[in-house]
Amino acid sequence: MRTPNWVGPAGALPQPERAVLDFIQEIKRTEQRQRGALVREEYEARKAAWVEAHDREPATLEEVAAVLAGATTWKFDRALWRFTQEFMYDRIRENLLEQATALRAFLDSPTPDAPGTLRLNPALPMHDYFQADFHVQPGGMWKDDLVPFVTVISNDIFSGGSNVNYEWQANAARAIPEGTYERILDVGCGFKSTFVLKERWPEAEVYGIDLSAPLLKYAHKLAARKGLAIHFSQQNAEHTDFPNAFFDVVYSTLLFHEVPDAAAWNIIRESYRILKPGGWFVIEDTPTYDRLDPFTAYLSDWNTEHNVEPFWRQACQRDYPALLRAAGFSEVWDPRTASEPMGVVGPRINKARK
Ligand SMILES: C[S@@+](CC[C@H](N)C(=O)[O-])C[C@H]1O[C@@H](n2cnc3c(N)ncnc32)[C@H](O)[C@@H]1O
Repeated sequence: MRTPNWVGPAGALPQPERAVLDFIQEIKRTEQRQRGALVREEYEARKAAWVEAHDREPATLEEVAAVLAGATTWKFDRALWRFTQEFMYDRIRENLLEQATALRAFLDSPTPDAPGTLRLNPALPMHDYFQADFHVQPGGMWKDDLVPFVTVISNDIFSGGSNVNYEWQANAARAIPEGTYERILDVGCGFKSTFVLKERWPEAEVYGIDLSAPLLKYAHKLAARKGLAIHFSQQNAEHTDFPNAFFDVVYSTLLFHEVPDAAAWNIIRESYRILKPGGWFVIEDTPTYDRLDPFTAYLSDWNTEHNVEPFWRQACQRDYPALLRAAGFSEVWDPRTASEPMGVVGPRINKARK
């Protein structure tokens, strides 16, 4: 495991702990390889009988579930995923708890050298949909103020190392056309995605909003460390305090699978409101099922009930191009038909122009 890219008084994790996390990461990597091979192999073998009986391929999530019911590789593979997820978080938290006081003090300490700003709003309501312990992370996105440290360490492990240098976020930024922009906003910014924007458009005013105070505090510290002037504020992306037509670009990575349909619609409409005419809106999120074969869609769908991703299925069944058009966007790129490759590195991308 590489040394986690984080700032904090304690620095990197001690070696014995990293060895345990290396072990967990290796199990996850092996599981990911098996998912592509062993489970698929068993699925194909079992599918033959289903096709024989129905005279067609399984097409729906329910039909794939029927084929896989009781399949040993599938059950083992999923149990392994869940177990390693829980084990990983337990180990990370156990380690961080020893330094919790120092880490909390660090998050709350002033950042006098910060070129950017941080505006928190302790009165902001945390919606019901934001209470989940997403992807089994204890305390979810905000209830535990150690969340940024836990996330920094766990991200590389559970992505199997596939997003170590924020390739997914950079890929979404690449979908924004070249140009000179006055203001750019990252909605649901966490502490990673905003940096790629400021690095690419150093002259632009770059803003990041998120509901989670601890993530924003950490983002502010990290921006200061990188010398980047970014303006973070604690806001709900459904209803922000930005004026109409304020931004040239609104960008969002991995937010939409964490919100239910009603909130997703509000965020799209709000983004339209705060964009200037001609402004760009880029959404990057997990691939929708209409782009996946039924087996892969079923694998993805498993997250909804078993990996504490309560809005995953809704997000993967949304028709983003239709929602963007309904909100008023005039040019909408549909990844199902677009000729430019979008979302080729990681999750897929929707793009629209006001
Ligand atoms: C999976 S994280 C992605 C963070 C970041 N964009 C990235 O790519 O690493 C989703 C983020 O959306 C935030 N979030 C969820 N619902 C939100 C909302 N309604 N308004 C603002 N932020 C929200 C969460 O706190 C979390 O930081």
